[in-house]
Amino acid sequence: MVGDHIILKVFMSVKDCRIIELPKIQDPRGNLTFIEGGEHIPFDIERVYYLYDVPGGSARGGHAHKNLEQLIIAMSGSFDVVLDDGFEKKTFHLNRSYYGLYINTMVWRELDNFSSGSVSMVLASNKYSEDDYIRDYQEFIDRAKNSS
Ligand code: TYD
Repeated sequence: MVGDHIILKVFMSVKDCRIIELPKIQDPRGNLTFIEGGEHIPFDIERVYYLYDVPGGSARGGHAHKNLEQLIIAMSGSFDVVLDDGFEKKTFHLNRSYYGLYINTMVWRELDNFSSGSVSMVLASNKYSEDDYIRDYQEFIDRAKNSS
């Protein structure tokens, strides 16, 4: 407490990131999975984007978001997501379309080891804003250490 102001520092950790198992309607004609914002995932969906035509072995990501929450799903194929909160790193292997990886704010992510032809769908809590990105790793580390 400084004067009348309460200083609230919220540290986002990779421990808050997790695999969410999505509903799956099994059917011999083909399985079906659905996602409702605020119901199966902890945010309302404002944007959906997807990566496709990804050459095998390529890498994406290499940034953190100040305010954006995301859920990443391997719709087809597989890839790894390496999460880093500035103190701890955790790797998730995604290869099922009924598992989503929830990524909280202020977590650095690298996506790599894409299998050829894989498709990654991302549900996001906000519209695209370049101002929300932290693309410099040292800046990310400085901010993460400051808020811990
Ligand atoms: P970026 O988020 O850096 O891709 P990745 O993390 O998958 O490597 O985005 C790549 C480019 O696409 C960048 O120039 C911003 C642009 N972009 C949009 O215009 N809208 C979007 O919703 C996203 C995700 C990216």
